[in-house]
Amino acid sequence: MAILVTGGGGYIGSHTVLRLLEQQEEVVVLDNFVNASPQALTRVAGLAGRAPHVIEGDVCDAALLTRLFATHRIDAVIHFAGLKAVGESVREPLAYYQVNLSGTLTLLAAMRAAGVHHLIFSSSATVYGQPEQVPLTEASRTGGTTNPYGTSKWMVEQVLRDLALAAPEMALVALRYFNPVGAHPSGRIGEDPRGTPNNLLPYIAQVAVGKLPSVTVFGNDYPTPDGTGVRDYIHVMDLADGHLQALRHSRDRTGFSVWNLGTGRGHSVLEMIDAFRRLSGRDIPYTLAPRRPGDIAECWSDPSRAAVDLKWSATRDLDDMIRDTWRWQSQNPQGYSSE
Ligand code: WQD
Repeated sequence: MAILVTGGGGYIGSHTVLRLLEQQEEVVVLDNFVNASPQALTRVAGLAGRAPHVIEGDVCDAALLTRLFATHRIDAVIHFAGLKAVGESVREPLAYYQVNLSGTLTLLAAMRAAGVHHLIFSSSATVYGQPEQVPLTEASRTGGTTNPYGTSKWMVEQVLRDLALAAPEMALVALRYFNPVGAHPSGRIGEDPRGTPNNLLPYIAQVAVGKLPSVTVFGNDYPTPDGTGVRDYIHVMDLADGHLQALRHSRDRTGFSVWNLGTGRGHSVLEMIDAFRRLSGRDIPYTLAPRRPGDIAECWSDPSRAAVDLKWSATRDLDDMIRDTWRWQSQNPQGYSSE
């Protein structure tokens, strides 16, 4: 039996595919490579010593999914495929609902028709909207999302909850990631954003390597210790391991489950810049700017439910995250187009 990984060529997907291959799982990747590089999977195969089966195609293509499930013996799906840029989602809401919501509906329908019952879905801490308090537990209020990207993730969670009630044979899991960062410690795979990065750590990394002149710090008047935004950054290898544990846990279970994947610790923007400067030895100039619209002051997880249920906790600290990001960025200044 094999595991289907949609979006397996992307940032979190490629690290998870590597961990699955290392666990001797058979892996089928479905990716349209719109925001991913086939090179990532070539490098994953190099690291693992064996390759996934790669299908280039779209998760919205119902006929392709039907053929895929008929051809490969799939017993679980890890669904990463989707669009993920918050700002772009405000400009292109239909694309976000089409790919993230409709794509997931198409996938679920194909799974049901093929009798595949296990799904792990890439959700996000963004489903909590404006947090009433931190840390966030899985029982914290969700909804009140402020952009179509976040709303699409929240909507898929509602779909999964309803489907689990209607189809009691299914095991449906939503993993709510906090802020994924870092790279595989080999420096061979990592995050390769299209154009100028939107997220803080890839932006800092590109300043450190000399591709961008300085970091813009969005707001230093938040009610946080140094006035800048605080987030729960989590190493992508810890996230990948969280998927393996969730898969293992859901194998002999049914119903809809949700877990936070975070470290339970928050770090400010200035702390991130300082740590990056210390670990890379590079100058990281920054300028202060007004708050970014839609941003919240602080967001971090209570990860204890995953620790109890999944026997999973993050094991890599901030220095690991930054060291691994820097190794990837400095060895691959142009991302996957570096070679
Ligand atoms: C982190 C902190 C910024 C860039 C977003 C999505 C979320 C998830 C991860 C992804 C904030 C500050 C940032 C910069 C800065 N989804 N910042 N200068 O906003 O917590 O979460 O990405 O696929 O759904 O909302 O992450 O990395 O953009 O920002 O000062 O150039 O860094 O204000 O405090 P965020 P981020």
